[in-house]
Amino acid sequence: MTYDLNRKVVLITGAAGGIGSATARQLYARGASLVLTDMQQSAVDCLAQEFDGARVLPLALDVTDAGATKAVVRKTIEKFGRLDVALANAGISWRGTPGTIMGCDEREFEHIVEVDLFGVWRTIRAALPEVVRNEGQILVTSSVYAFLNGVANAPYAASKAAVEMLTRSLRVELGGTTATASVVYPGWTATAIAKPAFGGNALATRMSEVVLPSPLRRPIQPEQMARAIVKGIESRSPRIIAPGRWASINLLRGVFNAVMDWHLRRHARFQGLLRELEAQQPVRSRVPAHTGATANG
Ligand SMILES: NC(=O)c1ccc[n+]([C@@H]2O[C@H](COP(=O)([O-])OP(=O)(O)OC[C@H]3O[C@@H](n4cnc5c(N)ncnc54)[C@H](O)[C@@H]3O)[C@@H](O)[C@H]2O)c1
Repeated sequence: MTYDLNRKVVLITGAAGGIGSATARQLYARGASLVLTDMQQSAVDCLAQEFDGARVLPLALDVTDAGATKAVVRKTIEKFGRLDVALANAGISWRGTPGTIMGCDEREFEHIVEVDLFGVWRTIRAALPEVVRNEGQILVTSSVYAFLNGVANAPYAASKAAVEMLTRSLRVELGGTTATASVVYPGWTATAIAKPAFGGNALATRMSEVVLPSPLRRPIQPEQMARAIVKGIESRSPRIIAPGRWASINLLRGVFNAVMDWHLRRHARFQGLLRELEAQQPVRSRVPAHTGATANG
């Protein structure tokens, strides 16, 4: 049975971003009312101008604030009387240059986890009672980083793997209800967050060129990702992966993970770029260069 989005109320975090705003537009076209939340009120106000004021509620929300996240759900009920779908989509990565676990700024590492993992948890927790009551859906924007090695992007990748499991756990916990939870796995999508790996940061760009074959690096437009998300909501799909080339890697991830980790540890050019990165980091505790494979490699 198709889940009909007409007259449903959908809350989106990170709604002013590339994937959030493209998804908002397509949900609106299906008849949904929207609660658009993001860091800056001006950004969600600007997006909301595209829609009929009766069907949109733009609110500033920093998902690191649990109280504010619950208040957004209360305001949603005040305006629309219900909440059906929550898309926990807000996300960040490094502000500028990528970092390694040994050399990155500790506060930045923890802030990324605060937003990308705990921000999702807070959104789920605040929205869940209403979503369950309305037989609705929770969607969580994870990433292909849930199964790609997160080298030089560890707080992001660790959070994306964690929110994948959070959502899978929730889906099963909701088994006794008619509500569902789904994981969204965007591949590279042309938005602000992906810019460092596409020319915004020279080192990040070179690293991703070395790690990924070009078909996997080809970014999709946020509208394509949004179409996949809307289709996934309509079919209550447990997994929403786009572009499709990532679906087979997800299927084979047991083998793919082992081969990728093995390969990257031995890849001379990639390891050279990592050393270059370490030399630029705030904490200059460099890993001593090693020669050749180790017994536990
Ligand atoms: N673009 C990609 O290649 C890609 C790939 C995989 C996953 N994703 C994920 O997709 C989601 C959407 O990202 P996007 O591609 O649209 O990037 P984006 O940078 O355009 O959007 C992210 C949005 O999150 C908001 N945000 C950041 N911190 C926040 C906070 N503390 N509270 C509330 N909002 C906050 C930003 O203001 C921004 O509008 C993110 O979770 C991202 O990790 C993106």
